[in-house]
Amino acid sequence: MQFAIVIMAAGKGTRLKSKRAKVLHEAGGKTLLRHVADAARQVVPPEDIYIIVGHQAEQVQSSLGRLGVNFVRQTEQRGTGHAIQQARDAVSRYENIIVLSGDAPLIRPETILQMRDFHLAQRSSMTVLTAFPENPFGYGRVVRRTEDAEQVQAIIEQKDLTPEQTSMGEINSGFYVFRREPLYAHIDELESKNAQAEFYLTDMAGILTAAGERVTAIKAADPDEVLGANTMEEMMDLDGRLRRRSAQILMSKGVTIFRPETTVIDADVTVGADTVIEPFVQLLGETKVGQDCRIRSYSVIENSTLGDRVLVRNGCTITQSTIGDGALIGPYAHLRPDSEIGEGAHVGNFVETKNVRMGKGSKANHLTYLGDAQIGSQVNIGAGVITCNYDGVNKNPTVIGDRVFVGSDSTLVAPVELGSGSYVAAGSCITEDVPEDALALARARQTIKPGWAKMRRAKHTK
Ligand code: UD1
Ligand code: CA
Repeated sequence: MQFAIVIMAAGKGTRLKSKRAKVLHEAGGKTLLRHVADAARQVVPPEDIYIIVGHQAEQVQSSLGRLGVNFVRQTEQRGTGHAIQQARDAVSRYENIIVLSGDAPLIRPETILQMRDFHLAQRSSMTVLTAFPENPFGYGRVVRRTEDAEQVQAIIEQKDLTPEQTSMGEINSGFYVFRREPLYAHIDELESKNAQAEFYLTDMAGILTAAGERVTAIKAADPDEVLGANTMEEMMDLDGRLRRRSAQILMSKGVTIFRPETTVIDADVTVGADTVIEPFVQLLGETKVGQDCRIRSYSVIENSTLGDRVLVRNGCTITQSTIGDGALIGPYAHLRPDSEIGEGAHVGNFVETKNVRMGKGSKANHLTYLGDAQIGSQVNIGAGVITCNYDGVNKNPTVIGDRVFVGSDSTLVAPVELGSGSYVAAGSCITEDVPEDALALARARQTIKPGWAKMRRAKHTK
C-alpha cells in the first residue's frame, strides 16, 4: 500500500516575531523542518515526500539540499486546509497520505508508523494523532463521538472554542493520515468562516464524519512528541528536549555523560560505548566519536570523526576533521577543517592546524601553526614552529617526511619540503628544501663580546 508523506511548511510563524520562517529556526542542531523531514525519510523514500512551501520558499527548499524530496508551492498561505488542497495533483497516485506539520520537530518515525498502522487497521478515512499535554491552550481540541469513543466528531481550534469547551484536554497534534480519495472528494467543502478566516485542515474531521466516513483518533504514547513552538522561549524548550533526547539515546548505548544537562549534542551525533563525555561539551552536526574516548570539558567538536581511545583535553575546537585511534588532542588545540590526525599522534596546547595530514605517532605538542602541510609519521614538531603557508597571494604546501625533527621556533616558508629523517635546528627560517637525513641550520651565528655588560655598567654608574 503506497503512502505519500506531505509536510506543511509554508507558513510564516508570525508569533515568533522573527524575519526567518518558523520552520527554518534551529533546535537540536537542525531546522525544525529538517527534523520532521528526517523522521519522514525513515518511513517512506524521499521521492514519496512532498513539502508544501510558500513563505521564504527558496530558502526552505535549499535548506533541504539534496534530500531528493518534492516541493509543492502554496503561493498564498490561507490555512492548513488550503495547503493540502495545493498537493492534490502531486499526490494523485497514492492511496493514503500522511500529513505532518513542519514545525513540530519531536515527532519520531515510530510514532508515524503507529499512526499509519492504526489508520489501516481501523479502515479509516482520516486518523488524527492526539495527545493530552499539561497545558492544552493554543491547540485545536478533539471532540470524540459519544456513541463510539474511537471516532472523532470534530476538531475545534482554540480561537473558535466556546468557554465550556476550553476545558477539553485532548489536543490535535497536527499529524494525520488520510485516505486520499475521500479527502480530495470533500476538501473543497472547506470554508473560511472562522476566527482566523483560514481554510482549516482540521475541519475535514467534521466534514468527513458528516459524509459518513470513518474518522478516528490515536493517542500519542509520548505527549511531548507533538510539541511545537510559537515563541522563542518555547523554541529553546524544544532545543533542550531534542538535546536531552540525543544524550539519553547515547547513554542507553553505554556512553557516560557527566551532567548531561550541560552538554549540547545534536541529533545525528554517534558515540561508541565506554566513551566519557565531561560537562559542557558540544558535539555538533554529524560528528562521530569512537569507543573508549574521553572528551574533556569545554570542547566543541563539529562534523568530525574521532577513532577509538582518543583523548580530547579541555577547551578544544575541532571542526570537519578526522582523528585516528589513540590520538591525544589539547588542551586548547584548534583543529580547523581538513585536519587529519594520525593514530597515536599528539596535537598539544595552543596548536592550530588546517588542511593537514599528520602521520602515525607524530607530535606537535606546543604553540604551533600547521597549515596546508603533509607530515609523515614519527615526526617531532618543536614548540612554536610555524608553517608560513601564505605568501600574501597563494597558499603553499609544506611536505615533511617521516621521522623529521623540527627544532623549536622554526619557520618553514612554503612551498618547502623536509626530507625523511632530516633535522632542522631550533630557530631556523627554512626557505629551501632539506635533503633526507641532513641537518639544516638557518639562523644567525651567535657572537660573544666578552666583558661587554660589565663595561656598560661601569659607564653608567660613574
Ligand atoms: C495547527 C492545527 C491545530 C493543532 C496544531 C498542532 C489547523 C487549523 N490547526 O494549528 O489544531 O493543534 O496545528 O501544532 O490546522 N502551514 C502551511 N500553510 C498555511 C498555514 C500553515 O503550510 O497556509 C503550515 C505551517 O508552516 C506549519 C503547519 O502548517 O508548519 C501548521 O500551521 P500553524 O499555523 O502552525 O497551525 P497551528 O496554529 O499550530
Ligand atoms: Ca503550529
